[in-house]
Amino acid sequence: MAKYCGLNGEILSQQEAGIGLTDLAILRGYGIFDYFLFKYGQPLLEEQYFNRFYSSAEKMHLEVPIGRQLLSRHLRELIAANGETQGAIRLVLTGGYSPDGYAPGAPNLIVLLHPYPKLPEAYFTEGVGLISHSFQREWPEIKAINYLTGIKLLPQIRQAGALEVLYHHNGILLEAVRSNIFLVNSREELITPHSNILYGITRQSVIKVAEGLLPIIEREVRLEELFQAREAFITGTNKSLMPVVKVDGRLIGNGEVGPWARKLREGLEAYREGYYRKVVG
Ligand SMILES: Cc1ncc(COP(=O)(O)O)c(C=O)c1O
Repeated sequence: MAKYCGLNGEILSQQEAGIGLTDLAILRGYGIFDYFLFKYGQPLLEEQYFNRFYSSAEKMHLEVPIGRQLLSRHLRELIAANGETQGAIRLVLTGGYSPDGYAPGAPNLIVLLHPYPKLPEAYFTEGVGLISHSFQREWPEIKAINYLTGIKLLPQIRQAGALEVLYHHNGILLEAVRSNIFLVNSREELITPHSNILYGITRQSVIKVAEGLLPIIEREVRLEELFQAREAFITGTNKSLMPVVKVDGRLIGNGEVGPWARKLREGLEAYREGYYRKVVG
């Protein structure tokens, strides 16, 4: 656990900091969050994550108690106070203290530092499995704190030896519980769902990295296309780009990690590193 956290713009001991019991995040699960990486003391793609965080807040009628400039300074102070050079940052904006247990109050802004994600290398070299589930998140573009469906399905995910659950709705492929999905079809086109999803920052980075390498198509994708794909992979801040070789026990492509997943993951890592180098100077 990090030594210090942020609460409403102040840096406090994480062990002692807390919020009250009547916060709407506790009573009704109402709140938003975001999660991003930092390295060399610098947040990755800060502007893009801030855009999503402030826009999620606005859509949920919650006011972030500090503006972007102050938040940016606050993050750097928190990183320095913890003496970390790399890790992950979680911003949480709660519904605040509710006067009647239902209506939002003034939001609490929590900032937590987590270790830099370290996933088993086999996830990347051998690929991972998913299970599918018919579900569409309530407000797909908002990064709400509610992960009821995914968390409730954890026992089934574990039993299937899968990593995550993949959502589809009315036969349309959407996203995984904490990541976006891409397919490479037999024409070597890169295809990703374009609506009713969270617009992942990593999804956007991968699209940028893929530009000029193969055609990129953002459109409605049918679930069956997944099973006809040559390759599939998921993307997320803490997963980078992870090949998917099995869904519901059915092999994707030949069931092995494909060349595009390898190439685009390398490209994504280089893109991230290039960003850090540019801001660090
Ligand atoms: C529902 C959902 N979709 C997609 C993503 C991937 O987004 P990002 O690449 O910004 O981490 C996440 C990340 O947590 C998510 O929760």
